[in-house]
Amino acid sequence: MTNKLIFSGVQPTGNLHLGNYLGAIKQWVKLQNAYKSIFCVVDLHAITVPQNPVELKKSILELAAAYIACGIDPEKAIIFQQSDVKEHTELAWILGCNTPLGWLNRMTQFKEKSGKNKENAPLGLYGYPVLMAADILLYNTNLVPVGDDQKQHIELTRDIANSFNQKYGKDVFTIPEPMILSQAKRVMSLRDGTKKMSKSDESEYSRINLSDDAETIRSKFKKAQTDSIAEIYYDLENRPAISNLLTIYASLADITIEQAQAKFANFQFSNFKTELAELAVEKISPITKKFNELKNDTTELQKILDKGAQNARTIAEKTIKQVKGVVGF
Ligand code: TYM
Repeated sequence: MTNKLIFSGVQPTGNLHLGNYLGAIKQWVKLQNAYKSIFCVVDLHAITVPQNPVELKKSILELAAAYIACGIDPEKAIIFQQSDVKEHTELAWILGCNTPLGWLNRMTQFKEKSGKNKENAPLGLYGYPVLMAADILLYNTNLVPVGDDQKQHIELTRDIANSFNQKYGKDVFTIPEPMILSQAKRVMSLRDGTKKMSKSDESEYSRINLSDDAETIRSKFKKAQTDSIAEIYYDLENRPAISNLLTIYASLADITIEQAQAKFANFQFSNFKTELAELAVEKISPITKKFNELKNDTTELQKILDKGAQNARTIAEKTIKQVKGVVGF
């Protein structure tokens, strides 16, 4: 166990998919044994796009259940709901007053999420990365284990922390580093190997959800995009779809992409896809089973989140006190 702390989070906006699992949560399960760990259900981030309140409430508890079903142990790691610790919004405001618009204008996720009508996008969506910086900096986080798509936000967090420390002449914030461990750091859509696997893709066949049953998983892999070259080999640039499938296999099997490529070199696509689907079923079914057992025990889940919030608050209160002090409040 090191003294270093890791912090990460997922938005409670519906089903978790294989990208969330392989890119982030599967790594957290290993890391919780080596680091002080905090895993957040980032509900304040979720409302930067429209949410149905009844669904959101359900999704928050379900995400806590999914963390545990994937292997996060609430006895080892802090699991909590972001809006339960008010210091996140307090620090976000203070950091927002120290973040130039130019930095936020560079954030690619805002450009993607706000779509064509930027004038109608809410302020919260624009300020989203500042809230994420607050999440990370509140806990003196050393490392942030995430998928590739969050790297830019962590770089911004570093810039915000450095400029704040410099402005007030004090090392108030620890400078965090992104931790991108997984070879599946960017899992792509099963329908289009050039697009990220995402909760918001309108095609259910683009992603494997952790709640999918075995038949659904098999059928999604069967229909997964391939290309016209008969051989199976990894070439991310020219063969994104097949490279994505090899990456998913390697990551599920805990082997390297080279090993996966060697294993399937003489396979036909259909046989490779069958093996991939069977491995996915083997790895995902126990998670789904555990998730289904846990998700209805809302009293227990709420208890875990309450205890997590209490523990998170102890750290967050100290940081915000220090920040308020240097700002002059
Ligand atoms: P979110 O909810 O979009 O995704 C949660 C985690 O899953 C990873 N991920 C992927 N990894 C590989 N391939 C994919 N296709 C894929 N899709 C998603 C993400 O990189 C992420 O690690 N802003 C964050 C949540 C957040 C956060 C934080 C994270 C809020 N505050 C502080 C770390 C620290 C987000 O929207 O993640």
